[in-house]
Amino acid sequence: MKQLLTPIRLGSMELRNRVVMAPTSMMLSLEEKIDFLGQVADGGAALIYVGDMGVEPGMPAKDLSLLTPEGLDNCRRLLGRLHQGGARGGAQLYLWDYDPAGLMELYRTGATREEIRAYKDDRLGEYVDTLPQERIQEIVDHFADAAQAAQEAGFDMVQILGGHLLNSFSSGYLNHRRDAYGGSVENRARLACQVAEAVRRRVGKDFPIEYKLAVHDDAIPCGQGGPDIREIGVFVTALEKAGVDAFQAALSNRSVIEDTVPPRNHKVFSEEGCFLYVSDEIKKHTSLPVSCAGKLSSPDFCEELIASGRLDYIAMSRQLVADPQWVTKVAQNRESEIRRCIFCNKGCLGSLLTRQKFHCVLDNAH
Ligand SMILES: Cc1cc2nc3c(=O)[nH]c(=O)nc-3n(C[C@H](O)[C@H](O)[C@H](O)COP(=O)(O)O)c2cc1C
Ligand code: SF4
Repeated sequence: MKQLLTPIRLGSMELRNRVVMAPTSMMLSLEEKIDFLGQVADGGAALIYVGDMGVEPGMPAKDLSLLTPEGLDNCRRLLGRLHQGGARGGAQLYLWDYDPAGLMELYRTGATREEIRAYKDDRLGEYVDTLPQERIQEIVDHFADAAQAAQEAGFDMVQILGGHLLNSFSSGYLNHRRDAYGGSVENRARLACQVAEAVRRRVGKDFPIEYKLAVHDDAIPCGQGGPDIREIGVFVTALEKAGVDAFQAALSNRSVIEDTVPPRNHKVFSEEGCFLYVSDEIKKHTSLPVSCAGKLSSPDFCEELIASGRLDYIAMSRQLVADPQWVTKVAQNRESEIRRCIFCNKGCLGSLLTRQKFHCVLDNAH
């Protein structure tokens, strides 16, 4: 029996095997999303997340949303389809690290992508450093509200995205606060832990919470968000104490997007399993289940990661976009039929950047 195909528990939830679809936002209509993610469920993935679900009223209303009755109805429909395919559904919770009202105004006036990026980058430091404590408490409550909404809509778990605002608060570079949220590593971990504690209190002890822990590494020029990888132990221990059941390792999103979703010829992250050095570091500090994404694609390599205990479950985004049947083909010893992702970033990530229809260049049918 392949270890990849054995079940695992994240908190109280059992996954049917060790392969999950990493959060993957898609430029598709609701029906197309339900259809495509349904194919990923039918193809054997154990857990599929809805990526980037905003937690604060005022963030853009998406078709799959925890903030509106219609968004929640759409989530219920998606979850019905995922469950029909035997997969679990997870909600990835996140919050911007800039003033929502200012950004929405830019969207309304039709600002270009570059203008929006500049707005975010210019205001980031000031926003993090001056966010009043009452607003912080409100933000913590909003994460808990969103988690509760996810639970009530039928999601099987939530993932708290340690990106964006939580990433900036965690970073010694981006956070210059002088209060209890800035300075020492413990202080910089405080907001993440308060969010995890509030979510745990709200969803009860049996609802699984995963934390996507996004770090930077001073030894590699790839952004400055999140804790430095050498500070990770403080975060892991504190988040576990706060009630987190599992971790997903990642590189900070305060970098260029190609660093977190690296193309084939990336100057640093060119190899399969390019972010495993982050999960290796997390595993030194916890016995909770740990997963990691990053160009994982080959069945033998993934099997070895699980069999050796280097990872507890495998997260894949682009490989499951390229072939939603990956798990089934592995289970049926049809590995040679797997359509291997070439990490071109054209149809999947490219479509988000150019606001065109999400697809894989290997299959125009998506
Ligand atoms: C099209 C696309 C959309 C993504 N959307 C999200 C997202 O909403 N939230 C997130 O945390 N990561 C997102 N990611 C990053 C993936 O979850 C994953 O960490 C990254 O692609 C590396 O894994 P891979 O090599 O298996 O693709 C996205 C990646 C792609 C390609
Ligand atoms: S478009 Fe390219 S990177 Fe994206 S899934 Fe297809 S082969 Fe992989």
